Amino acid sequence: MPGSENVGGVMLVTKFRIGILGATGMVGQQFIRLLDGHPYFEVGHLFASDHSAGRRYGDVTRWSVSASIPESIGELTIESISEIPTDDIDILFSALPSDIAESVEEDAARAGILVFSNANSHRMKDNVPILVPEINSDHIRLVAQQPYGRGFIVTNSNCSTAGLVFGLYPLIPFGIEQVVVTTLQAVSGGGLKGVPAFDILGNVIPHIKNEEAKMETETKKILGQFTKNRIEPLKTDINATCTRVPVLNGHLESVSVTLKEEISIEEAVQQFTQFESGIMDLSLPTAPRTPIVLVDDEDGPQPNKHLLLPEDPLGMAIKIGRIRRKSKSLRFLLLVHNTIRGAAGASILNAEYAYAAGYLEGVSA
Ligand SMILES: NC(=O)c1ccc[n+]([C@@H]2O[C@H](COP(=O)([O-])OP(=O)(O)OC[C@H]3O[C@@H](n4cnc5c(N)ncnc54)[C@H](OP(=O)(O)O)[C@@H]3O)[C@@H](O)[C@H]2O)c1
Repeated sequence: MPGSENVGGVMLVTKFRIGILGATGMVGQQFIRLLDGHPYFEVGHLFASDHSAGRRYGDVTRWSVSASIPESIGELTIESISEIPTDDIDILFSALPSDIAESVEEDAARAGILVFSNANSHRMKDNVPILVPEINSDHIRLVAQQPYGRGFIVTNSNCSTAGLVFGLYPLIPFGIEQVVVTTLQAVSGGGLKGVPAFDILGNVIPHIKNEEAKMETETKKILGQFTKNRIEPLKTDINATCTRVPVLNGHLESVSVTLKEEISIEEAVQQFTQFESGIMDLSLPTAPRTPIVLVDDEDGPQPNKHLLLPEDPLGMAIKIGRIRRKSKSLRFLLLVHNTIRGAAGASILNAEYAYAAGYLEGVSA
């Protein structure tokens, strides 16, 4: 636990003080839902645009991620990003649009706040990790190179990349020569106001702005090696095609990987199911028990059936199915919950890992 003290015979638990940037949006709402009752983190400040600032959260938010807004949160007053009370916040989870996030996150880090961001503004900077603790926990060491003093910025990847890296990482020992991936991405990936119903109902939109380039570059950085104080991106050829489909939540990805060494389906299954992340022993509250869950159904994984499973109630695991092989090519489908594993849940796991790895020492809790 972050801290506890005995006051007059009563044990008081102190948690890290949390602010959420972009709290009214799709990802901001998932942060609130996932942080409700969290053992380390306590949400105290919510930020959104000036249109929402000054108003009661429960009154302005078009809540869409569960039955109801947690009671204590609905009463909070939304604050403006131009007046962040830096003395009263240890950690900011950011779900801001990228064009706004860059300077807001930097200013917060400069003020000593630890920023865990979903925006893409800082992801590809040399001194900023795109952290996926099960895969590249050592990349967190990059924060030592940031110029913010005690504060820092840690990012998570874009939502479709968050799934793809789990499909590729267990195959690295076989030599990844080329990846061809086609995504079928849910509308929630475009945010609360993202895709008009008129455009997407009964339709497929074979273009998502900047998404293909993000998948290609972020994947190589995440799977890269931390050497000589920098990340050496994975050397491979990644080709992404991204489409938007009329599904509410869950990005499905059709992946074809050409490997240097031939691999049998049994070996591939073994690689996926026996994948053990280095963080399992830490018992982090948001870490999935099994990072990859194999879906045996011949018609799975499906967004409507497999996003949440008894063995993955939080939606943090990646579901893989329909594994096929053609000489040195391995083909499979993977499913990622875009607003949980691809966004808010990933950020929270990063903060939990940072705490376990000692990077939160010196902040107030
Ligand atoms: N959706 C996903 O699956 C997903 C996955 C990975 C990463 N991301 C990234 O996460 C971020 C948030 O995405 P989202 O889907 O949650 O978007 P969203 O639903 O459109 O929410 C955007 C949030 O940002 C706030 N905002 C907008 N303009 C602002 C301004 N000028 N100043 C302060 N706050 C402002 C909005 O507040 P108001 O309500 O007041 O307008 C709202 O709270 C984006 O960078 C996105 O690329 C999203």
